Amino acid sequence: MAVTIRGKRLPLPILQGGMGVGISLDRLAGAVAACGGMGTISTAFCGFQEPDFAQNPNAANLRALERQVKHAKELSKGAGLVAVNAMVATSQYADSVRTALRAGVDAVVCGAGLPRDLPAIAAEVPESDAALAPIVSGGRAASLICKLWDKHYGRVPDFVVLEGPLAGGHLGFSKEDALESQAGRPKPLSDLLREVLDALAPFQEKYGRDIPVFVAGGVKNGAEMRRYMDEGAAGAQFATRFIATEECDASEGYKQALLDARQEDITIVQSPVGLPGRALRSPLIRRVEAGTQPRPDRCVKCLVPCDFKTTPYCISRALIAARNGDWENGLFFCGANAGEVDRLSTVREQMEQIIEEWRNAR
Ligand SMILES: Cc1cc2nc3c(=O)[nH]c(=O)nc-3n(C[C@H](O)[C@H](O)[C@H](O)COP(=O)(O)O)c2cc1C
Repeated sequence: MAVTIRGKRLPLPILQGGMGVGISLDRLAGAVAACGGMGTISTAFCGFQEPDFAQNPNAANLRALERQVKHAKELSKGAGLVAVNAMVATSQYADSVRTALRAGVDAVVCGAGLPRDLPAIAAEVPESDAALAPIVSGGRAASLICKLWDKHYGRVPDFVVLEGPLAGGHLGFSKEDALESQAGRPKPLSDLLREVLDALAPFQEKYGRDIPVFVAGGVKNGAEMRRYMDEGAAGAQFATRFIATEECDASEGYKQALLDARQEDITIVQSPVGLPGRALRSPLIRRVEAGTQPRPDRCVKCLVPCDFKTTPYCISRALIAARNGDWENGLFFCGANAGEVDRLSTVREQMEQIIEEWRNAR
């Protein structure tokens, strides 16, 4: 079941999805990698705990990111791989990628926009041979990114993450599609997987190698992972279930909010980034819906598409508040199956359970 990614061995086909802000940092990513999976640090505002974060967020984030990548690699003991997740829509995107590459990260995974120029950014750090991967929501995006990278850089993605409409956080789908899939209509992830495999086929042939695809978003367990693997996926990416682990970098308050959540508490919000997002219906969301949320009073321009003059709240501050367990003011991102997370465990238990379910599904 091992997968080879840019010449490196990933013993288990399990990716832990990047979770910002501050939910997947070095501890969670390192623990997943130590079990043989790919652990992912979210670069989004990852320096929020640095003493100078309020005065100089950019420097604080890059300093913290370098330290976190190195620490996660140490924790991994070389068993699995350590990745970073960088959002194209953030103003620090390119700097974060360069910093992570210099710190020795094994893979860079980019979403919230198409990472058109990712190979050019990576080429600025020639000492790194990290794998580069886009997050796509279907065949069109997969085909477009392959065409662009092939034409301009003579390379194609080392792997692809296909994120379906049941994922947590920002979604590459309309609010309607996200809600429909949550309402139990036939899951389209299998159809999207077929599209993506078809889109990648000509590039696999041209480059004479496999482009592994990992499915993400509402993949419940190892049995479902196996079904997608039978349909051509290399493995799966999981996120929400890793929040309720001892090693997860979120506060106890965030973990408890997730454990307390029932299926009916999950909603789709319109994020200031301009994309729909899946989150718990916390007091902040209720105030935004009612039009009673006070507008933000300052802005560090962290997100390119966010407009300070019109945004109903500052998403970065809301995500940091959630990370710190502030139920009143936090934006608590979660996947569509969050209601099923009902106990705190360890990363090792989660990994073993997924593998056990995968084995038993045969
Ligand atoms: C709390 C939370 C934060 C997330 N933040 C990010 C992020 O910063 N960047 C990103 O590409 N995906 C983000 N995601 C999406 C996950 O990486 C992942 O693809 C998806 O949630 C997997 O589905 P699952 O949670 O049902 O397992 C986030 C998901 C959650 C639950």
